[in-house]
Amino acid sequence: MSAIRIAPSLLSADFARLGDEVRSVIEAGADLIHFDVMDNHYVPNLTIGPLVCQAIKPHATVPIDVHLMVKPVDALIPMFAQAGADIISFHPEASEHVDRTIQLIRSHGIKAGLVLNPATPLNVLDHVLDQLDLVLLMSVNPGFGGQSFIEGTLPKIEAVRRLIDRSGRDVWLEVDGGVKVDNAQRVGAAGADTLVAGSAVFNSASYAHAIAGIRDNARL
Ligand code: DX5
Ligand code: ZN
Repeated sequence: MSAIRIAPSLLSADFARLGDEVRSVIEAGADLIHFDVMDNHYVPNLTIGPLVCQAIKPHATVPIDVHLMVKPVDALIPMFAQAGADIISFHPEASEHVDRTIQLIRSHGIKAGLVLNPATPLNVLDHVLDQLDLVLLMSVNPGFGGQSFIEGTLPKIEAVRRLIDRSGRDVWLEVDGGVKVDNAQRVGAAGADTLVAGSAVFNSASYAHAIAGIRDNARL
């Protein structure tokens, strides 16, 4: 098994102290900063945009992993590129032209990811996997932190792992939603190499302990 990356989601951080939170979680072992963007249109919640990404950028000594839950998506991509995003992932349902949106992300020298909701079929990957740097599998319905992990995601992780392995390319397989210390083993064993964790990290007494716990279990 390759190395496991842990991406704490800022959604559960203290927004009044975001710079401190970013530094603390990196010091605690975070490999990426997961940045959830919601628009009250594609998902029923409203969060943060490019200005906040730009504000945390000086504090982020690891890549910023932007998860766009916005529709339409294209106009925000140059803005996030400017704001310091290192990875941008989007939902195919939020783009009129999925291939074009992937090209747009890559044209800015940013890694591109496609996000699959729990009910999104894997065939959306059919003609684009060779252009993706990561596949992000949602293990909750997008919109809120602190939801329960949907168990049906596990066979889906296994199926995407097989597709990626068959492609022979280095595509990251990230899982997002309800990941905790006590289910990380199953998520890792199914084939995920990048685990998002919001509430499990930021609601814990020790960020370092939570991150290490998730990472260690995902490696088992
Ligand atoms: C949900 C977001 C997730 C979420 C993760 O729409 O994309 O990143 O905040 O939070 P937890 O780990 O609490 O489920
Ligand atoms: Zn997310």
